[in-house]
Amino acid sequence: MSVHNPPLRDTAWRGWQLGGSTAQAYERFLVPAVFAPWGRELVRLADPAPDARVLDVACGTGVLARIAAERLNPDARVTGVDINPDMIAVARAVAPERAEPIRFTVGDACALDLPGGEFDTVLCQQALQFLADREAALAEMRRVLVPGGRLALSVLRPLRYNPAYGAFAEALARHVGPDAGAMMRAPFPELDTDDLRGLLRGAGFDPVTVRISVTSARYPSVRELVRQETLSSPLAARIQEVDEAARADLVAETGRLLADHTDDEGVVLPVQTHLALAERPLMG
Ligand SMILES: C[S@@+](CC[C@H](N)C(=O)[O-])C[C@H]1O[C@@H](n2cnc3c(N)ncnc32)[C@H](O)[C@@H]1O
Repeated sequence: MSVHNPPLRDTAWRGWQLGGSTAQAYERFLVPAVFAPWGRELVRLADPAPDARVLDVACGTGVLARIAAERLNPDARVTGVDINPDMIAVARAVAPERAEPIRFTVGDACALDLPGGEFDTVLCQQALQFLADREAALAEMRRVLVPGGRLALSVLRPLRYNPAYGAFAEALARHVGPDAGAMMRAPFPELDTDDLRGLLRGAGFDPVTVRISVTSARYPSVRELVRQETLSSPLAARIQEVDEAARADLVAETGRLLADHTDDEGVVLPVQTHLALAERPLMG
């Protein structure tokens, strides 16, 4: 699968200054380029029934909740929780109108403020790697599911399986700073397939299946890759602190390191991620 990020039309988002919040940049750039296509795959895997009650944990700007809502009856309950109030504000602003509006609330995945046994499906896309206590968060996801309910979760594979992002992190470390390189490496945790399976089993899920998914993220140019990835994340502050010459060097070096990934349509980064499907047992 490869995805095109649509061209940018309005002037507010040209250049390296934020035309709004980081959360708005995330919704504008990263959601169409990566999180919506990945989200469709994850929701397909979860395969919620039309009347399922669905919870999107660490929902960001709510893309997974929206994709799930498209498949559900208009009165099925969909809830999204995220710790970042800016993400929740954007999620509320872009939520579709439906008979039962999607509920977006600010909350911590490690201590969900929700009753147990309330959801048929829990979704969690690319957030486990950022959670302070992964075991507690998975135990919470299990707790809020009904017995027999299903969790579908995705988390990127380690950087050795995603070397294009490792190259980008290297360029960021050199031209913006070691902390910027570390920020680009953070989404790729040292969790192998057995580790993830073990975490899910340890949280009481059974059965558990983990799939390796190979996809790609496409950008119209190396400059757009650098600009969109940095403005849509905690890197936004760092990229705006450095001068124009450092940003030009960053784009040039990223281009050199990703020369093998550049074609007539821009640059394409292969991505490997884990997709897990796990069930709360009927008993226990
Ligand atoms: C890469 S984003 C993914 C967002 C969303 N799942 C998506 O697919 O677009 C990671 C999200 O995890 C959220 N997050 C980090 N720690 C959290 C926590 N303890 N509880 C809830 N959300 C958290 C962040 O605010 C961010 O929105």
